[in-house]
Amino acid sequence: MRTTTAIGTNGIAQPARAVLDAFTRPLRDLRISVTDRCNFRCIYCMPAEIYGERYEFLPRPHLLTFEETARLARLFVKLGVTKLRLTGGEPLVRQDLHLLVAMLSQIQGVEDLTLTTNGYLLPQQAQALKDAGLMRLTVSLDTLDDAVFHKMNGGRSGVDRVLEGIRAAEDAGFGPIKINAVVMKGVNDHTVVDLARFCKEHGYIVRFIEYMDVGNRNGWKMDHVVPSREVVRRISEAMPLEPAEKSYRGEVADRWRYTDGSGEMGVISSVTEPFCGDCTRARISPDGHLYTCLFASLGQDLKTPLRAGETDEALEQRIRTLWRLRDDRYSEERTSSAAPRGQKKVEMYHIGG
Ligand code: GTP
Ligand code: 5AD
Ligand code: SF4
Ligand code: SF4
Repeated sequence: MRTTTAIGTNGIAQPARAVLDAFTRPLRDLRISVTDRCNFRCIYCMPAEIYGERYEFLPRPHLLTFEETARLARLFVKLGVTKLRLTGGEPLVRQDLHLLVAMLSQIQGVEDLTLTTNGYLLPQQAQALKDAGLMRLTVSLDTLDDAVFHKMNGGRSGVDRVLEGIRAAEDAGFGPIKINAVVMKGVNDHTVVDLARFCKEHGYIVRFIEYMDVGNRNGWKMDHVVPSREVVRRISEAMPLEPAEKSYRGEVADRWRYTDGSGEMGVISSVTEPFCGDCTRARISPDGHLYTCLFASLGQDLKTPLRAGETDEALEQRIRTLWRLRDDRYSEERTSSAAPRGQKKVEMYHIGG
């Protein structure tokens, strides 16, 4: 077993039981998907023509309970995780999510507890999430153009409803709020400057994400990707930008600062500039499988041993072994077509972004 008691490869002191993967990447972030359901049908994630009314999502007994989720999270924290992110599907469609947040916020060693949402249910839930101990929020919003937004989310929401959610989050005390925008060529790329300007004026940190070949059903092609450098060029022409340092090693976004001092934006370039070398992220699916890469084909079942009564020590050892074997670096190996190895990949809504 490789362990480190002092400074890890990410420049941060690691707990005594920290574990490194095959490329010496420590385990730092755990992304927990709490449901595979969603009230949107984004064309890059869950196209409506495939995920219709009759699509069968995971039945409830298959989902980890909040107690099971918190138990796994505690074990990951023992192994070096300091950051937890709740994802989905849409995490806010999971009933009483704030109760899980309350459990996770009690775990010693969690320095960051955050959530990615489409914002639709924030007006009802923002305050309860804040009160339960959620520290930060990221809201997905691809454009401010209502017609374009409708097209991108399968007609499930207008822009106003998401903005209402963001305001509710601010009123509840969250800030600064991050906004995720997936950029698709010919779909919303003509609206990036408007969104950047809006976020700059309101103090939101927008991050433009290159459209990725996650899952098997979005018909991804390299031609649909707008390279981040092009997004930065277009925004900088309107509102000059200068590069900023990463906030922490392993941050997925490249940060850019407005030269007039009015804030920052970011780009996430997983297609044109992969960042696998610093990838410290593990993902748990709603049914308790561990995925060591966003593009993995298979997850490792943790739920079965958990429900069979395996001890904490044995589960911890199981996770440690899986992480030590990890050699994923899909984005660095990607070719210009999806699924280069012809293997099915896990769907994004199953393990979150
Ligand atoms: P901060 O904690 O605020 O820095 O955000 P984050 O780095 O956790 O970013 P977030 O979870 O909002 O991720 C933004 C998007 O980046 C995701 O929705 C994915 O599209 C992409 N992304 C995040 N992690 C990975 C990763 O490990 N691999 C790839 N290829 N893309 C990722
Ligand atoms: N490419 C890039 N980002 C994606 N997301 C979902 N599908 C894709 C994709 N194909 C991101 C969305 C959302 C987060 C949950 O995942 O931006 O913010
Ligand atoms: Fe739902 Fe998020 Fe997928 Fe859109 S990207 S369909 S909001 S899970
Ligand atoms: Fe990490 Fe896989 Fe994304 Fe590379 S492609 S950054 S290994 S999740």
